Amino acid sequence: MVPRHFLTGDELEPQELAALLARAQELKAARSALLAGATGAAPTGALAGRSIALIFDRPSTRTRISFEVGVHELGGQAIVLREGETQLARGESVRDTALVLSRLVHAVGVRTGPHAALEELAAHASVPIVNLLTADHHPCQALADLLTLREHFGRTDGLRLAYVGDGNNVATSLMLLGARAGVEVAVATPEELAPGSEIVRAAREAASGGGSVAVTTDPAEAARGAHALYTDVWVSMGDEQGAERRRELLAPYRIDDSLLAHARDDAAVLHCLPAHPGEEIAEDVLYGERSAVWDQAENRLHAQKALLELLLVESAR
Ligand code: CP
Ligand code: NVA
Repeated sequence: MVPRHFLTGDELEPQELAALLARAQELKAARSALLAGATGAAPTGALAGRSIALIFDRPSTRTRISFEVGVHELGGQAIVLREGETQLARGESVRDTALVLSRLVHAVGVRTGPHAALEELAAHASVPIVNLLTADHHPCQALADLLTLREHFGRTDGLRLAYVGDGNNVATSLMLLGARAGVEVAVATPEELAPGSEIVRAAREAASGGGSVAVTTDPAEAARGAHALYTDVWVSMGDEQGAERRRELLAPYRIDDSLLAHARDDAAVLHCLPAHPGEEIAEDVLYGERSAVWDQAENRLHAQKALLELLLVESAR
């Protein structure tokens, strides 16, 4: 059987995405009942007897911990491999690594720079491959972002989400998955850092329900009437060389009270983290009452548990 990968989020039909978010909410409620000592809220054991390799070529706090905890809570085993810990570091091919891992584990998560390396691994693997972030996409993050919106507003369809800042991997995944979930995604970036036209086209093609994608250079225009304002770091992993230029270009794109004033009164503030308070987001906004950032970080766990169930359990039915 051809394994089901999760490389960009394109792999999910809109109704599957909606079902995944609903399942994530169920898993979140079950976990909190369990922690509160409720009977009948036993862990599902969906991954009992299964092992998942998690390969990290780049640092991570949220992704690594949420996956490790999530796999554990579903009854499986996670094997974390940091950069330099596999024979990839000594030149073993991606193909051979894919073939061997497919014999030993039941899924592989990868955080690396080049998206093409992930695609190569997926092309040779006979177990699901999950994107834990590449320079081009961060789809697991977008799942948690949509879950946070759904919790906050009771739906995703018809919401307006303004992403302000660098047109990077996080912006790309928000466009692709947000439009698919019926969200009106408005992206404001400096022209030099705008998302590529192919990605914008793909996101528009994937739109369902009230979903759409608009790109502008004006942060206030994007923020107008938004249910949520979202930003990410100005200097992503791998972009360190152009850091000064990025900071200059992005200075007008900070989320602060004056930008927030263009959004709805009940607008939530999102950030995938790690944050640089005072840079892409004002400190009082990050820690203020509109911030849903800490829910968003927690929601990585619940969304990814639902994803693992879908890829490993439901796909096998
Ligand atoms: N948001 C996110 O992916 O965080 P980490 O880099 O800590 O995993
Ligand atoms: N755009 C950021 C996201 C970090 C979670 C990066 O790629 O470094």
